[in-house]
This record gives sequence, structure tokens and C-alpha cells, in this order.
Amino acid sequence: MLLEIFNFLHFIGLAWGVGGATAAAIISMKAEKNPEVAASLMKIIPALSKLIWAGLVLLIISGIAVTSLVKWPLDTNLLLIKHALVVLIVAIGALIFLRVKKMQKLAKPGEKPSEEFFKAKKQLGMLSITNLALWYLIVLISAFV
Ligand code: HEM
Repeated sequence: MLLEIFNFLHFIGLAWGVGGATAAAIISMKAEKNPEVAASLMKIIPALSKLIWAGLVLLIISGIAVTSLVKWPLDTNLLLIKHALVVLIVAIGALIFLRVKKMQKLAKPGEKPSEEFFKAKKQLGMLSITNLALWYLIVLISAFV
């Protein structure tokens, strides 16, 4: 029973994490072309960011519980690779957070965005795409654990 509950929570965390990261990518892409979406970007992204972090925390807690409760053999090599990728997602997530903070500091209302702002924005885009790819890679790997 406990195993089923934590396995269920692992799926909920998965839905929040992958769903949030995918939605953030789609909205960011729309914002590139549509100024109306760009204007409300800063209102939507923080909510999605919280959803992704909550998903990650839930995945890690339920993942540890499932590992200790599971009664069948696991592919420990694959699980180890998966753990390394989870650490990478968290690290890149922290870098994304710092980039967003930097952009908020650099963005002055009524002024043209600086060169530095665009550089941070470009880095943010690359970090986000990398993390989105990592999310799907982890899901792929997990299907074989
Ligand atoms: C980004 C983070 C993670 C993602 C996207 C993810 C995703 C998945 C998916 C899709 C599955 C297969 C379906 C299932 O049985 O629930 C799975 C299974 C599993 N995950 Fe994760 N997971 C993550 C983090 C973790 C962590 C941190 C741990 C361990 C500390 C963990 C331990 C496990 C175990 C042991 C299974 C196999 C359960 C079984 O055989 O039924 N996961 N994970």
C-alpha cells in the first residue's frame, strides 16, 4: 500500500515537472513572436517555476521512498545515471533562477534593454532548452529502470 502511494506521488511529481517545463517552453516560444504574451510572461513563469520545483521535490522524496520499498530488482546502473541527471537538472535550475534574477535587476522600466540583458536572455533560453531535454531524457531512462 505504501509503495503504491509513493509510486502515485512519483507520477504526480512527474506530471508537475514535465508538464510545467513543457508549458514554460511553449509560452516562452510564443512570447518571442507575440508582444502581448511577452508582456504577461513575468506573471505566468513564476507560477510554472514553482510547479516545476514542487514536482522535483516530490519526485526526489517519493523516488527515495520507492527505492527503499520496492520488492522487485531495479537496474541500479540506470538508476545511478538517472540520479546524476536529476542533480544536473537541479543545478541548471539554480542557474536559470540566477539568470532570471539578473534580468529583473537589469530591466529598467522605460529604458531600452542593455546588451547585458540580451546576453542573460540568450543564456536563459539555452539553459531552459537543455533542462527540458534532460526532463524527457530522465523519463525515457526511467522507463527501463
Ligand atoms: C526528475 C526527476 C525524476 C523523474 C522525471 C522520474 C521519472 C520516473 C518515471 C517516469 C518512472 C517510471 C514510472 C514509475 O514507476 O513511476 C520512475 C520510476 C522510478 N523512479 Fe523516478 N524520476 C525522477 C527522480 C527519481 C529519484 C530522485 C529517485 C530515487 C531517489 C527515483 C527512483 C525511482 C525508482 C526506484 C523507480 C522504479 C519504480 C518501479 O520499478 O516501479 N526517481 N521515475
